[in-house]
Amino acid sequence: MTLSDDEPSKGVISSIADWLFKILWIFESRRNDAKVDMYRKMLWPEISGKVLDLGPGFAKSLEFLRHATATDGSYAIDSAVVHSYTALEPNPFLYSHLHKNAEKNGFCVQYDRQSYPDGKESNTVAVRDNMVPFTIVRGTLDKKSLIPQAVLDGAPYDTILTSFSMCTVKDPESTAKNIIKLLKPGGKYVFIEHVLQPDVDDPHVVEDNGVDAKFWAGVQKFINPLWKIIGHGCHINRRTGDTIASIDGWESVDYKSVRPAIDLQSRIMPLSFGIATKAKGDKEEI
Ligand SMILES: C[S@@+](CC[C@H](N)C(=O)[O-])C[C@H]1O[C@@H](n2cnc3c(N)ncnc32)[C@H](O)[C@@H]1O
Repeated sequence: MTLSDDEPSKGVISSIADWLFKILWIFESRRNDAKVDMYRKMLWPEISGKVLDLGPGFAKSLEFLRHATATDGSYAIDSAVVHSYTALEPNPFLYSHLHKNAEKNGFCVQYDRQSYPDGKESNTVAVRDNMVPFTIVRGTLDKKSLIPQAVLDGAPYDTILTSFSMCTVKDPESTAKNIIKLLKPGGKYVFIEHVLQPDVDDPHVVEDNGVDAKFWAGVQKFINPLWKIIGHGCHINRRTGDTIASIDGWESVDYKSVRPAIDLQSRIMPLSFGIATKAKGDKEEI
Protein backbone atom coordinates (compact mmCIF):
# COMPACT_ATOMS: atom_id res chain seq x y z
CA MET A 1 0.00 0.00 0.00
CA THR A 2 1.30 3.46 -0.81
CA LEU A 3 0.85 6.67 1.08
CA SER A 4 -1.59 7.95 -1.52
CA ASP A 5 -3.94 4.93 -1.20
CA ASP A 6 -4.95 5.94 2.27
CA GLU A 7 -4.27 9.63 2.53
CA PRO A 8 -5.61 12.48 0.45
CA SER A 9 -2.91 13.90 -1.81
CA LYS A 10 -0.87 16.54 -0.03
CA GLY A 11 -2.21 20.06 -0.41
CA VAL A 12 -0.33 23.19 -1.39
CA ILE A 13 -0.02 24.41 2.21
CA SER A 14 1.44 21.12 3.31
CA SER A 15 3.94 21.21 0.42
CA ILE A 16 4.96 24.76 1.34
CA ALA A 17 5.45 23.61 4.94
CA ASP A 18 7.62 20.70 3.70
CA TRP A 19 9.71 23.10 1.62
CA LEU A 20 10.06 25.54 4.54
CA PHE A 21 11.25 22.66 6.73
CA LYS A 22 13.98 21.92 4.21
CA ILE A 23 15.23 25.51 4.45
CA LEU A 24 15.00 25.46 8.26
CA TRP A 25 16.79 22.10 8.42
CA ILE A 26 19.67 23.25 6.19
CA PHE A 27 20.63 25.69 8.97
CA GLU A 28 19.30 23.92 12.05
CA SER A 29 20.77 20.49 11.29
CA ARG A 30 24.29 21.95 11.39
CA ARG A 31 23.73 23.26 14.91
CA ASN A 32 22.06 20.03 15.97
CA ASP A 33 24.79 17.82 14.48
CA ALA A 34 27.48 19.80 16.31
CA LYS A 35 25.76 18.98 19.61
CA VAL A 36 24.85 15.34 19.04
CA ASP A 37 27.40 13.82 16.66
CA MET A 38 29.45 12.55 19.61
CA TYR A 39 26.55 10.30 20.62
CA ARG A 40 25.95 9.14 17.03
CA LYS A 41 29.65 8.20 16.78
CA MET A 42 29.12 5.85 19.73
CA LEU A 43 25.92 4.27 18.45
CA TRP A 44 26.20 4.11 14.66
CA PRO A 45 28.82 1.32 14.53
CA GLU A 46 26.04 -0.92 15.94
CA ILE A 47 24.04 -0.41 12.72
CA SER A 48 24.36 -3.43 10.43
CA GLY A 49 22.67 -5.77 7.98
CA LYS A 50 19.43 -4.74 6.37
CA VAL A 51 18.79 -1.24 7.68
CA LEU A 52 15.64 0.91 7.78
CA ASP A 53 16.09 4.60 8.65
CA LEU A 54 12.82 6.32 9.59
CA GLY A 55 12.88 10.05 8.80
CA PRO A 56 16.51 10.23 7.59
CA GLY A 57 16.25 13.89 6.57
CA PHE A 58 19.56 14.64 4.84
CA ALA A 59 21.17 11.53 6.42
CA LYS A 60 24.38 13.37 7.13
CA SER A 61 25.16 10.86 9.88
CA LEU A 62 25.79 8.14 7.27
CA GLU A 63 29.44 9.07 7.75
CA PHE A 64 29.34 7.36 11.18
CA LEU A 65 28.38 3.97 9.72
CA ARG A 66 31.21 1.49 9.23
CA HIS A 67 33.23 2.29 6.12
CA ALA A 68 35.95 0.28 4.41
CA THR A 69 38.53 0.80 1.69
CA ALA A 70 37.51 -1.10 -1.46
CA THR A 71 39.93 -2.93 -3.77
CA ASP A 72 39.96 0.07 -6.14
CA GLY A 73 41.10 2.30 -3.28
CA SER A 74 37.75 4.06 -2.78
CA TYR A 75 36.52 4.57 0.77
CA ALA A 76 32.85 3.69 1.09
CA ILE A 77 30.25 2.09 3.26
CA ASP A 78 31.39 -1.43 4.27
CA SER A 79 29.18 -3.83 2.31
CA ALA A 80 30.19 -6.65 4.68
CA VAL A 81 28.54 -4.72 7.53
CA VAL A 82 25.62 -2.84 5.95
CA HIS A 83 23.84 -4.91 3.29
CA SER A 84 21.07 -2.53 2.29
CA TYR A 85 19.69 0.81 3.48
CA THR A 86 16.07 1.87 3.16
CA ALA A 87 15.50 5.58 3.78
CA LEU A 88 11.82 6.08 4.64
CA GLU A 89 11.23 9.81 4.38
CA PRO A 90 7.87 11.57 3.92
CA ASN A 91 9.26 14.93 2.76
CA PRO A 92 10.41 14.81 -0.90
CA PHE A 93 12.03 18.26 -0.65
CA LEU A 94 14.78 16.57 1.38
CA TYR A 95 15.56 13.96 -1.29
CA SER A 96 18.21 15.88 -3.24
CA HIS A 97 20.41 16.31 -0.12
CA LEU A 98 19.63 12.76 1.00
CA HIS A 99 20.60 11.39 -2.42
CA LYS A 100 23.83 13.41 -2.45
CA ASN A 101 24.89 12.28 1.04
CA ALA A 102 24.15 8.64 0.23
CA GLU A 103 26.31 8.82 -2.91
CA LYS A 104 29.05 10.59 -0.99
CA ASN A 105 29.18 7.56 1.32
CA GLY A 106 29.43 5.13 -1.59
CA PHE A 107 25.85 3.86 -1.68
CA CYS A 108 24.04 3.05 -4.91
CA VAL A 109 20.89 5.19 -4.75
CA GLN A 110 17.52 4.18 -6.14
CA TYR A 111 13.95 5.41 -5.63
CA ASP A 112 10.92 3.34 -4.83
CA ARG A 113 8.70 4.15 -7.81
CA GLN A 114 5.47 3.04 -6.18
CA SER A 115 5.66 5.56 -3.33
CA TYR A 116 7.58 8.18 -5.34
CA PRO A 117 7.11 7.96 -9.11
CA ASP A 118 9.11 11.18 -9.66
CA GLY A 119 12.38 9.61 -8.51
CA LYS A 120 15.44 10.06 -10.70
CA GLU A 121 16.44 7.23 -13.03
CA SER A 122 19.67 6.24 -11.35
CA ASN A 123 22.83 7.23 -9.54
CA THR A 124 24.63 10.31 -10.73
CA VAL A 125 27.97 8.61 -10.03
CA ALA A 126 29.34 5.49 -11.66
CA VAL A 127 28.01 2.26 -10.15
CA ARG A 128 30.81 -0.01 -8.94
CA ASP A 129 30.77 -3.65 -7.90
CA ASN A 130 29.68 -4.35 -4.34
CA MET A 131 27.94 -1.02 -3.81
CA VAL A 132 25.33 -1.15 -1.07
CA PRO A 133 21.81 -0.30 -2.32
CA PHE A 134 20.19 2.78 -0.78
CA THR A 135 16.46 2.98 -1.51
CA ILE A 136 14.55 6.20 -0.95
CA VAL A 137 10.93 5.45 -0.09
CA ARG A 138 8.27 8.09 0.51
CA GLY A 139 6.15 7.45 3.57
CA THR A 140 5.99 6.85 7.30
CA LEU A 141 5.30 4.14 9.88
CA ASP A 142 2.56 6.28 11.45
CA LYS A 143 -0.13 3.67 10.85
CA LYS A 144 0.12 0.05 9.76
CA SER A 145 -2.09 0.81 6.74
CA LEU A 146 0.29 3.60 5.62
CA ILE A 147 3.49 1.56 5.55
CA PRO A 148 4.71 1.56 1.94
CA GLN A 149 4.84 -1.81 0.20
CA ALA A 150 8.59 -1.42 -0.43
CA VAL A 151 9.18 -1.26 3.35
CA LEU A 152 7.01 -4.33 3.95
CA ASP A 153 8.77 -6.21 1.13
CA GLY A 154 12.17 -5.41 2.70
CA ALA A 155 11.17 -6.71 6.17
CA PRO A 156 12.34 -8.09 8.47
CA TYR A 157 15.22 -5.66 9.16
CA ASP A 158 18.37 -6.25 11.20
CA THR A 159 18.46 -2.63 12.34
CA ILE A 160 15.89 0.16 12.42
CA LEU A 161 17.09 3.64 13.18
CA THR A 162 15.45 6.89 14.25
CA SER A 163 17.42 10.06 14.80
CA PHE A 164 15.25 13.01 15.90
CA SER A 165 12.22 11.61 14.06
CA MET A 166 10.09 10.29 16.93
CA CYS A 167 9.47 13.89 17.97
CA THR A 168 7.56 14.43 14.72
CA VAL A 169 5.80 11.13 14.02
CA LYS A 170 2.02 11.32 14.50
CA ASP A 171 1.86 8.68 17.23
CA PRO A 172 5.15 7.51 18.82
CA GLU A 173 3.56 4.44 20.42
CA SER A 174 2.04 3.16 17.21
CA THR A 175 5.29 3.91 15.33
CA ALA A 176 7.33 2.02 17.96
CA LYS A 177 4.95 -0.94 17.63
CA ASN A 178 5.43 -0.93 13.87
CA ILE A 179 9.21 -0.73 14.36
CA ILE A 180 9.29 -3.84 16.53
CA LYS A 181 7.09 -5.72 14.07
CA LEU A 182 9.40 -4.86 11.17
CA LEU A 183 12.51 -6.06 13.05
CA LYS A 184 13.97 -9.56 12.91
CA PRO A 185 13.94 -11.48 16.20
CA GLY A 186 17.18 -10.30 17.84
CA GLY A 187 17.15 -7.18 15.60
CA LYS A 188 18.11 -3.77 16.98
CA TYR A 189 16.28 -0.49 17.15
CA VAL A 190 18.94 2.23 17.44
CA PHE A 191 17.64 5.64 18.47
CA ILE A 192 18.68 9.11 19.46
CA GLU A 193 15.85 11.50 20.24
CA HIS A 194 15.22 14.73 22.08
CA VAL A 195 12.74 14.29 24.90
CA LEU A 196 10.90 15.96 27.76
CA GLN A 197 13.33 16.64 30.62
CA PRO A 198 13.43 13.30 32.47
CA ASP A 199 12.25 13.38 36.11
CA VAL A 200 14.80 14.43 38.72
CA ASP A 201 15.32 10.85 39.93
CA ASP A 202 15.19 9.16 36.50
CA PRO A 203 17.83 6.38 36.60
CA HIS A 204 18.58 6.73 32.86
CA VAL A 205 20.10 10.18 33.33
CA VAL A 206 23.89 9.86 33.14
CA GLU A 207 24.74 13.53 32.70
CA ASP A 208 22.92 16.20 34.65
CA ASN A 209 25.00 19.36 34.11
CA GLY A 210 23.10 21.04 36.94
CA VAL A 211 20.01 21.62 34.78
CA ASP A 212 16.83 22.30 36.75
CA ALA A 213 14.79 19.44 35.26
CA LYS A 214 11.43 20.43 36.77
CA PHE A 215 11.65 24.04 35.65
CA TRP A 216 12.74 23.21 32.08
CA ALA A 217 10.14 20.46 31.74
CA GLY A 218 7.55 23.14 32.58
CA VAL A 219 9.01 25.44 29.91
CA GLN A 220 8.92 22.60 27.37
CA LYS A 221 5.25 21.87 28.06
CA PHE A 222 4.37 25.58 27.92
CA ILE A 223 6.01 26.34 24.60
CA ASN A 224 5.25 23.03 22.89
CA PRO A 225 2.07 24.26 21.11
CA LEU A 226 4.03 27.08 19.43
CA TRP A 227 7.12 24.89 18.88
CA LYS A 228 5.01 22.35 16.96
CA ILE A 229 3.98 25.04 14.48
CA ILE A 230 7.47 26.46 13.96
CA GLY A 231 9.13 23.02 13.94
CA HIS A 232 6.84 21.40 11.36
CA GLY A 233 5.15 19.07 13.87
CA CYS A 234 8.14 18.60 16.21
CA HIS A 235 7.15 17.97 19.86
CA ILE A 236 9.47 18.84 22.74
CA ASN A 237 7.27 17.22 25.38
CA ARG A 238 7.60 13.52 24.53
CA ARG A 239 9.02 10.82 26.80
CA THR A 240 10.28 8.80 23.85
CA GLY A 241 12.69 6.57 25.80
CA ASP A 242 9.86 5.55 28.14
CA THR A 243 7.47 5.02 25.22
CA ILE A 244 9.92 2.69 23.47
CA ALA A 245 10.61 0.79 26.68
CA SER A 246 6.86 0.37 27.32
CA ILE A 247 6.28 -1.63 24.11
CA ASP A 248 5.98 -5.41 24.53
CA GLY A 249 8.40 -7.68 22.70
CA TRP A 250 11.84 -6.31 23.59
CA GLU A 251 14.50 -8.54 25.05
CA SER A 252 16.24 -5.44 26.38
CA VAL A 253 16.00 -1.67 26.13
CA ASP A 254 19.28 -0.06 27.01
CA TYR A 255 19.21 3.72 26.87
CA LYS A 256 20.74 6.74 28.54
CA SER A 257 19.55 10.30 28.92
CA VAL A 258 21.58 13.49 29.16
CA ARG A 259 20.66 17.06 30.07
CA PRO A 260 22.99 19.21 27.97
CA ALA A 261 23.46 22.78 29.16
CA ILE A 262 25.29 24.13 26.12
CA ASP A 263 22.73 26.83 25.37
CA LEU A 264 19.07 27.70 25.91
CA GLN A 265 17.88 25.37 23.20
CA SER A 266 19.75 22.38 24.59
CA ARG A 267 17.86 22.82 27.88
CA ILE A 268 14.57 22.25 26.08
CA MET A 269 16.09 19.39 24.09
CA PRO A 270 17.57 16.85 26.49
CA LEU A 271 18.48 13.60 24.78
CA SER A 272 17.69 9.93 25.15
CA PHE A 273 19.69 7.48 23.07
CA GLY A 274 20.32 3.75 23.03
CA ILE A 275 19.42 0.38 21.61
CA ALA A 276 16.31 -1.75 22.02
CA THR A 277 16.76 -5.40 21.04
CA LYS A 278 13.81 -7.47 19.90
CA ALA A 279 13.24 -10.71 21.80
CA LYS A 280 14.63 -13.70 19.88
CA GLY A 281 11.55 -15.88 20.27
CA ASP A 282 9.20 -13.12 19.09
CA LYS A 283 8.16 -14.07 15.59
CA GLU A 284 5.34 -11.52 15.34
CA GLU A 285 5.25 -10.01 11.88
CA ILE A 286 3.49 -7.01 10.47
C1 LIG B 1 14.47 16.72 12.77
S1 LIG B 1 14.54 15.87 11.29
C2 LIG B 1 15.78 14.64 11.58
C3 LIG B 1 16.47 14.18 10.34
C4 LIG B 1 17.60 13.16 10.52
N1 LIG B 1 17.10 11.90 11.01
C5 LIG B 1 18.69 13.69 11.40
O1 LIG B 1 18.96 13.12 12.46
O2 LIG B 1 19.30 14.67 11.01
C6 LIG B 1 13.03 14.94 11.36
C7 LIG B 1 12.82 14.05 10.16
O3 LIG B 1 11.63 13.28 10.34
C8 LIG B 1 10.85 13.35 9.16
N2 LIG B 1 9.43 13.12 9.49
C9 LIG B 1 8.47 14.04 9.67
N3 LIG B 1 7.30 13.43 9.94
C10 LIG B 1 7.55 12.11 9.93
C11 LIG B 1 6.73 10.95 10.12
N4 LIG B 1 5.45 11.07 10.40
N5 LIG B 1 7.33 9.74 10.00
C12 LIG B 1 8.65 9.64 9.75
N6 LIG B 1 9.47 10.69 9.55
C13 LIG B 1 8.92 11.90 9.64
C14 LIG B 1 11.13 14.73 8.63
O4 LIG B 1 10.75 14.86 7.28
C15 LIG B 1 12.61 14.82 8.87
O5 LIG B 1 13.35 14.22 7.86
